[in-house]
Amino acid sequence: MKTLFSGVQPSGIPTIGNYIGAYKQFVEMQHEYDSYFCIVDQHAITVPQDRLKLRENTKKLAAIYLASGLDPEKITLFIQSEVAAHAKAAWMLQCVGYIGELERMTQYKDKARRQNQKEGISVGLLTYPSLMAADILIYSADVVPVGEDQGQHLELTRTLAERFNAKYNDILTVPEVKHPETGGRIMSLNDPTKKMSKSDDNQKGYISLLDDPKAAAKKIRSAVTDSGSEIRYDKEEKPGISNLLDIYSSLTDRSVSDLELDYDGKSYGEFKTDLGEVVEAFLARFQDRVNHYLESGALDDILDRGAERAARKADRMVEKMERAMGLGRKRK
Ligand code: TYM
Repeated sequence: MKTLFSGVQPSGIPTIGNYIGAYKQFVEMQHEYDSYFCIVDQHAITVPQDRLKLRENTKKLAAIYLASGLDPEKITLFIQSEVAAHAKAAWMLQCVGYIGELERMTQYKDKARRQNQKEGISVGLLTYPSLMAADILIYSADVVPVGEDQGQHLELTRTLAERFNAKYNDILTVPEVKHPETGGRIMSLNDPTKKMSKSDDNQKGYISLLDDPKAAAKKIRSAVTDSGSEIRYDKEEKPGISNLLDIYSSLTDRSVSDLELDYDGKSYGEFKTDLGEVVEAFLARFQDRVNHYLESGALDDILDRGAERAARKADRMVEKMERAMGLGRKRK
């Protein structure tokens, strides 16, 4: 069976963008692969976090993974910092990567610009993609389902794996990236030229998976739309409506062309009211499941089991990498 790996940062509560770009794919793919899902808390600390909030979000993120529909009996769900192999492999991969490659990452450039206005830029923010490569490569992942914003990091992961294999020993699997067919890049509700992000300062731009459902419907109703009145998918001319069509299509599993037909001749107002109702119902059901997991007491057991299972697989690869690079002693 092939292996799947993906991760989400507990740097805030995930948005419907994260759901559509990531979780939805995870659920669809979980049974076809030996699937590893990680709460990447070490990635979150590349920018300052409040420690209590981070811990709270980590737990909530575990519940959100499961509420999306992942089967804890089938998949491995765990917290990155609880499996030491990630940091060990990240160090080795930092020594394989080049500073120039890391400086070219657009996510680094964006975050560094924002961070520089507040305080210094951490070294971790620069070396973040080496840790992400480590996450993926120590499980020999064949496929990594992610939203489009992670495409560049995945390209670098492939480059690092190929370079490691060529320089040392051919032991790393070069992973394939998998983006969703619809909704690989959900945009901000108040600026459809910008990605929807859980760390946006403007709360009107995103819908968090734990937002009050009625308040979320209101955010949809007041989302920025485009000039004209036609409900038509056109990312250039109509970025606002196209984004809402992506959200609508993903949450209802109806094709965009089907929705266009349905809303032919109808107003933006009607369309947004209906989508608001779809989002409200989706969130209400989703949050019931999140609360069920948070209250069930099963989360700790699932995460303990997950960390154990993950470490068993990852430690073997780290040992192989260390041997290939000549680290430690030769043992009989
Ligand atoms: P993160 O936590 O920012 O996002 C988690 C997942 O959600 C996707 N995503 C989106 N998809 C569609 N529209 C959006 N607006 C949107 N915003 C986010 C992301 O593409 C991602 O799939 N570096 C990663 C976490 C990570 C990781 C990994 C992922 C660390 N190690 C190894 C895969 C494999 C990140 O910051 O994701």
